[in-house]
Amino acid sequence: MSRTLRSEPFSASRILVTGATGYVGALIVASLLRDTNARIVCLTRAAHDRTALLAPIKEEWETQARYRWSAAVDARIEQVVLPNDLADVPNLAARLEGVDEIVHCAGCLDYYDVAKLQAVNVFYTAHLLVLAKHLKVKRFVYVSTAYSSGYQDQPTPEDLLTEPQGDPTQYTRTKREAERLVATSHVPFVVIRPSILIGTSDTGRYSGKRYGLYQQWMGLERLACDRYHEEFHTVAPRMPLNVLHQDSFCEAFKAAYRWIPHGAFMNLVSDPHCSPSMRDLWDMWFEVTRPARVYYYPTIDDVPMKSIHMRQRAYLTFAQVNLEIASHHWQFETGWIQQLRDNGLRFIDTTIDTVRICQDRFVRSSDQMQKYFSEHAHRFSQAARCIDIDPAQLQQQPAIATA
Ligand SMILES: NC(=O)c1ccc[n+]([C@@H]2O[C@H](COP(=O)([O-])OP(=O)(O)OC[C@H]3O[C@@H](n4cnc5c(N)ncnc54)[C@H](OP(=O)(O)O)[C@@H]3O)[C@@H](O)[C@H]2O)c1
Repeated sequence: MSRTLRSEPFSASRILVTGATGYVGALIVASLLRDTNARIVCLTRAAHDRTALLAPIKEEWETQARYRWSAAVDARIEQVVLPNDLADVPNLAARLEGVDEIVHCAGCLDYYDVAKLQAVNVFYTAHLLVLAKHLKVKRFVYVSTAYSSGYQDQPTPEDLLTEPQGDPTQYTRTKREAERLVATSHVPFVVIRPSILIGTSDTGRYSGKRYGLYQQWMGLERLACDRYHEEFHTVAPRMPLNVLHQDSFCEAFKAAYRWIPHGAFMNLVSDPHCSPSMRDLWDMWFEVTRPARVYYYPTIDDVPMKSIHMRQRAYLTFAQVNLEIASHHWQFETGWIQQLRDNGLRFIDTTIDTVRICQDRFVRSSDQMQKYFSEHAHRFSQAARCIDIDPAQLQQQPAIATA
C-alpha cells in the first residue's frame, strides 16, 4: 500500500452514510456537506424522522460554515430507512443505485452488550460490504476507533492489526474484527481510527452522548450533588490519555477524506506528547470540587473499597473499565495525520488547557454543579492535599475515615 497522499483529491457524487443520527455521524455529514458537492444518503432506523435527523447536522453545519442552512443544502440530504433485519441491507441495492461511496459510522458502544456489539459492529459491517459490492462503490470508509488494537506493547500500527494479549472490552474486539472484514473484502477502503472525542477546542461545545470523559464528569457530577466529600479516593494513572477535540476531528476527517489513499489505516489521534494524563484530569476536577484531601492509588485493587464512602465505591466500580483503559500506555503511529499536517491541515492538539475549556463549559452548564457551589463553597479548603498511596504502605495505613 502506498504511504504517500493521493495526487488528486478523492470525490464521490452520492455518499451513503450510516450512523448519521449519532454524534460522530452528524459531524461527518456536516463536514461532507461543507467540503464536497455530493448528495448524502443517510441510512437510518425507522424511528428517526427527517427533522430529528437534520437538527444536529444543521447545528454542526452552521458552526462549520458560519452561515445559515439553506434549502439547497437541505435538498442534498436524502433519508433511506433500514430494514428491520440488518441481514436485508444488501437488498437496498436497487434503491441506492448511483451511490458511489459508503461511509460507515454506525456502531454500538455499549461495552457490556456483547450480542449487540457483535450484531452492529461486525454483522452490520459485513452486510454493508455485500451492499458495497452490489453497488460497485469507489470506496468504503470505515470509522473505527484508536483503541481497536486492544492491549499491545508496541505503538498501534497504521495497518491491519494482529491479535493482542487482551482487550479492554468486547467493543475494541468487535471494532478490530470489523476492520479485518473491511480490509479483506476486496472493496477499496480506508479505515479511520479516531481516539475519544470531546468538545471543541475553542468553546468546549460538545454534541455527543455520555461517552468517554463526559461519562466520567457526569458520574462525578452525581457524586457532587449528593454531598460535599471532604476526602476522595481514586486511581489516577499518569499515562497520556488520548482524547480528540471534535473540531480537530472534523478538520482531520475532511483532509483524510480527500487525500488518504485506498487501503490506508489512519490513527486519528492528538499528538501524544502533549496529551494530559488521567492524573492531570483528576487534579483539574478537584480544583473545582475542592475536597480537603485526595488519595491517589496505583490501581483499583489497591483502593480500600470497604472503608471509603459507599457512593465513591459505587462510582469507582462504575468507572473501573475506563480507569483500567487509562492505565495502559497507549501508543500510536501517527504517519498519516503528520503528513496531512505537513500539507497544511489545521489541527489543534489536545492539552490540559484545551480540556479545561471543555470541563469549564460542562461545569458552567450543569445546574447540579451550580447548586453544589452555592451549598458547599464555604467549606472549600484552599486546595486539595494530594496523597499518593504507595501500595507497600497500605498495610500500615490507619483506617480511613469516611466523609
Ligand atoms: N464518540 C467517540 O468518542 C468515538 C470515538 C472513536 C470512534 N467512534 C466510533 O464512531 C461511531 C459512532 O459513535 P458515536 O459516538 O457517534 O455513537 P452514537 O452517538 O451512539 O451513534 C451511534 C450510531 O450508530 C447507530 N446504530 C447503533 N445501533 C444500531 C443498529 N442496531 N442498527 C442501526 N444503526 C445503529 C445509531 O443509530 P440510532 O440513532 O438509531 O441508535 C447511531 O446513528 C462508532 O462506530 C464508534 O465506534 C466514536
